[in-house]
Amino acid sequence: MKLFIKTYGCQMNVRDSEALAGLMTAAGAELVNSEAEADVMIFNTCSVRDQAERKAIGKITFMKKYKKLKPELIIGVIGCMAQHRGQELLEKIEHLDFALGTGQLHRLEEVIEYVRKERKKAAWLEEGSDVLESMGMHSDFQNKRLHTGSIAITRGCNRFCSYCIVPYVRGREFSRQAEDIVAEAEMLAAKGVKEIMLLGQNVAAYGCGGNVNPPPEDESPFGDLLQQIARIDGIKRIRYTSPYPTFFTQKLIDIIAAEPKICRNVHLPVQSGSAEVLARMNRQYTPERYLEIVQRLKSAVGELTFSTDVIVGFPGETDADFACTRDLMNEVGFDHAFIFKYSPRAGAKSALWQDDVPQEVKEERNQILLADLEKRSIAGNLACVGRTLEVMVDGVSARNPARWSGRTSTARTVVFKYKDGMRPGDLIQIPIERAGRVTLFGPGLIGADEEL
Ligand code: SAH
Ligand code: SF4
Ligand code: F3S
Repeated sequence: MKLFIKTYGCQMNVRDSEALAGLMTAAGAELVNSEAEADVMIFNTCSVRDQAERKAIGKITFMKKYKKLKPELIIGVIGCMAQHRGQELLEKIEHLDFALGTGQLHRLEEVIEYVRKERKKAAWLEEGSDVLESMGMHSDFQNKRLHTGSIAITRGCNRFCSYCIVPYVRGREFSRQAEDIVAEAEMLAAKGVKEIMLLGQNVAAYGCGGNVNPPPEDESPFGDLLQQIARIDGIKRIRYTSPYPTFFTQKLIDIIAAEPKICRNVHLPVQSGSAEVLARMNRQYTPERYLEIVQRLKSAVGELTFSTDVIVGFPGETDADFACTRDLMNEVGFDHAFIFKYSPRAGAKSALWQDDVPQEVKEERNQILLADLEKRSIAGNLACVGRTLEVMVDGVSARNPARWSGRTSTARTVVFKYKDGMRPGDLIQIPIERAGRVTLFGPGLIGADEEL
């Protein structure tokens, strides 16, 4: 079977697709990169914003031409949008054969066989926790960066932020067993992986039994897990995304401060800087509490960069609310952030409220935040000039094959000259000579168009 997989959405989806590619190739499938070659096409989808759904639906609709050429072709939609709208999509899109929900992903081979034999459409959308273990421990057949590997440590989400569809499409929050995660990390390390990324909708709530309240200040099951992974020989760096701000207990902060393998970049989604908006979003912190957590991290850990997620144009967001967001972002000094324009999601609570911020205002607020970010990013990069930074080598630069690139622990990208013997995953020291908008440059590189 020639299998084509296209992935939309977050890193959890990327990880799921990689695990499925592993399961399917172990079962004899061959992965192909072009739609024209495929006997089976899988679209792993996202529902978080309307645009994400539209993009995937557009693509799936367009696949009709291949089905006409090859009637035995099987086309399936899996993941979050399949969970959210699988039945409806099967009814609307004639050439779509199956929808496999987020709790059923491990049954991909089975559903393909079912469609092939029965020649019937299938919607397998039950919630289930079996998927948790069967999706772990499978190596990654698509990742080209073989020195990095990701591990899903939790699935689902219990937080129900009022704008968000994830708790409905990913189901309840489950944490995997620490032994299994550590075993998976050891297996990756044995294969040569140097940097591990831990994934979950709220990674810092790992091991808290689905509780939406953080553990006491002197506890952190997530911190304990980080420590166990840091002990593995061969693992040089650990990253994680995304933690919910209130789960940074003092214990977790102390563990990060004491363990240099844990990267000095925290992706800490804030969503808004207005207390009123945060309350309507059902985010369980105030701007003051968020800033206090950032401050505690900064003072305990030392050099640390922060990135975040922000939504502009949430229902009822006033100019004054937006000004608070802008101020908070300035105060933290984010030099990287994902800014999203609010998109009402049927099923989530805020969809019942009027989407009353006009599209132009959302766009304007988006542009203002992007311009602020760019200024801070340039300033942050300039401040690195003259320093020597430790960089993990990623490999040849995407933009310029004559150069190599890598990242600092603080998640800055550095471009440098290749030296004999350099290999992806090595940690090297690079004196920073110049800074661009998104990139730092090592010695001996000339020319203005060197951004990655
Ligand atoms: N679990 C992660 C976020 C997952 S969704 C966390 O809580 O940190 C990624 C981001 O999409 C969110 O942080 C939020 O900023 C954005 N998002 C979610 N729902 C949205 C919506 N309805 N409209 C616009 N952006 C949204
Ligand atoms: Fe969505 Fe909130 Fe859960 Fe993140 S924590 S996935 S934003 S409900
Ligand atoms: Fe999208 Fe599902 Fe991730 S809705 S953001 S792919 S969890």
